[in-house]
Amino acid sequence: MALRSANITVMMQAARKAARHLVRDFGEVEHLQVSIKGPGDYVSAADRRSEQILRQELTRARPGFGLLLEESGAVGDHAADHRWIVDPLDGTTNFLHAVPHFAISIGLERRGELVAGVIYDPIKDEMFGAEKGAGAYLNDRRLRVSRRSELATCLIGTGIPVLDWPGRQQGFATQLDRLSSEVAGIRRLGTASLDLAYVAAGRFDGFWEYDLKPWDIAAGIVLVREAGGLVGRLDGEPDLLGRGTLIASNSVLYERLVELLRVED
Ligand code: IPD
Ligand code: CA
Ligand code: CA
Repeated sequence: MALRSANITVMMQAARKAARHLVRDFGEVEHLQVSIKGPGDYVSAADRRSEQILRQELTRARPGFGLLLEESGAVGDHAADHRWIVDPLDGTTNFLHAVPHFAISIGLERRGELVAGVIYDPIKDEMFGAEKGAGAYLNDRRLRVSRRSELATCLIGTGIPVLDWPGRQQGFATQLDRLSSEVAGIRRLGTASLDLAYVAAGRFDGFWEYDLKPWDIAAGIVLVREAGGLVGRLDGEPDLLGRGTLIASNSVLYERLVELLRVED
């Protein structure tokens, strides 16, 4: 691995440790699929256990840092310079249905600026990492966003508004309608952190999704930027972790995507 800072090492070790448990739990979920009750409670427990391990490991290594965790919210020193932003299981619906595509995502903020990110897909053993000024990597390989400039050759990732996103279906349908007649493919893989990592890796040429949470995107934003891509909000607001639609892509496509995706809120 070419990223060797102490913080990145802490993040990767914590992710690997929590992932060992997640993978074991995932094996169990595969068996529980056919039971009448299904694996719902089991998955919630796996999610909480992953968060607990990450919290323990990150706090033990960096006792002075604050944390923003999906399940527990903001914990630790709220005035700390550094803050971990953690999704202990991104892709819960995939996990619940025994679809092997999920990740642990850990971002690091320093005085409000995103400075490092680690996203680990334990099923494929893909460790994505990036640090401000030091580049983005997949395992030992340096990442660059794709160079495609023709939409007709592009593969774009997205998230589809479902039950818990009332009122967004219409806008999304319009976006899909406009984009689908221009691009080579659109994918909904169900793990936003990995969608961003895939933009950084040049697997996806772009990605957009409405109303993602800080823990879904903190690490991925650093990855895309360090791989030479652009990340922004559809409404142009600078607070990337705030509400709204996030767009990420290589720099050539970015403006065109913004243009196509702009709809009335
Ligand atoms: C979800 C995933 C999914 C995205 C949702 C997120 P979770 O996170 O990232 O891809 O479409 O908006 O909430 O609930 O699996 O941690
Ligand atoms: Ca998530
Ligand atoms: Ca989650």
